[in-house]
Amino acid sequence: MKMNELKLVYFSPTGTTRKVIMEAAANIDLKSVSYDLTVHKEKKPSLKFKSNDLVLFGIPVYAGRVPAVFLEYFEALSGQGTPAALIATYGCREYEDALLELKNEVESRGFKVIGAAAFPTEHSIVRSIGLGRPNKQDLKEIADFGKQLSRRVHTEASFEPFNISVPGNTPYRKAGAASLTPKVDVTMCTECGACARSCPAGAIDTKDPKKTNKKKCISCQKCLRSCKQKARYVSSTKMKLLTGKLNKVCQSDKKADIFL
Ligand SMILES: Cc1cc2nc3c(=O)[nH]c(=O)nc-3n(C[C@H](O)[C@H](O)[C@H](O)COP(=O)(O)O)c2cc1C
Repeated sequence: MKMNELKLVYFSPTGTTRKVIMEAAANIDLKSVSYDLTVHKEKKPSLKFKSNDLVLFGIPVYAGRVPAVFLEYFEALSGQGTPAALIATYGCREYEDALLELKNEVESRGFKVIGAAAFPTEHSIVRSIGLGRPNKQDLKEIADFGKQLSRRVHTEASFEPFNISVPGNTPYRKAGAASLTPKVDVTMCTECGACARSCPAGAIDTKDPKKTNKKKCISCQKCLRSCKQKARYVSSTKMKLLTGKLNKVCQSDKKADIFL
């Protein structure tokens, strides 16, 4: 099939998924266009793709699922039998139903999944887990995934026969309530608003950035990373508890799972 463009549709509050998807994309022989859905916008972009586009979707795994905020953009998503590949990054615990959920969601909107992968990475909350991943070896595997997708779209006449199977169960795991909403040290906050502008869930008041709507917050930690004053933090008791829990269930040397 004569391919048109590579479209990158991703969500990446702390930048790891972006790094992974960009490495895969750099190895796909097509001109690429990015749709970074992390940037909170009042107006959602139209995501209508042609039958000869390749769409690469990228998400971080949240509680074994696709982040709900990412799926809100899917109202404007449609394909025409468009080939798609999926990337899930996860913090060395498990990705449970995330790839299956993403596959079902994109296929119900007119896409044909021709490849999928789950890449273990640094945990965005407890960064000592999987510290520094993707590392050199990970990047090689991610690049290889990109090369294989590139070969596939440039050599196959039709994507219809592909039947990619990914792990996961239905009904999906119950998505957990966010409980790591960063706090604000009011003595350090300069009200610059960087946190509010960067919040992908629109949970921080733009007029008064010291106020966070806990119900909207998805615990992604983007505000904490984007605060130059380091005024945003998660309570040390909560962090200690979570670190202890995650250290028991995460393995920093997990391997990638590739489905082609
Ligand atoms: C709210 C939240 C939930 C998470 N849930 C999981 C999980 O279920 N399993 C896992 O292994 N990692 C989990 N992680 C870690 C992220 O999936 C991982 O660090 C990811 O690469 C972050 O991507 P990003 O840098 O693009 O935001 C979670 C992180 C956050 C913030």
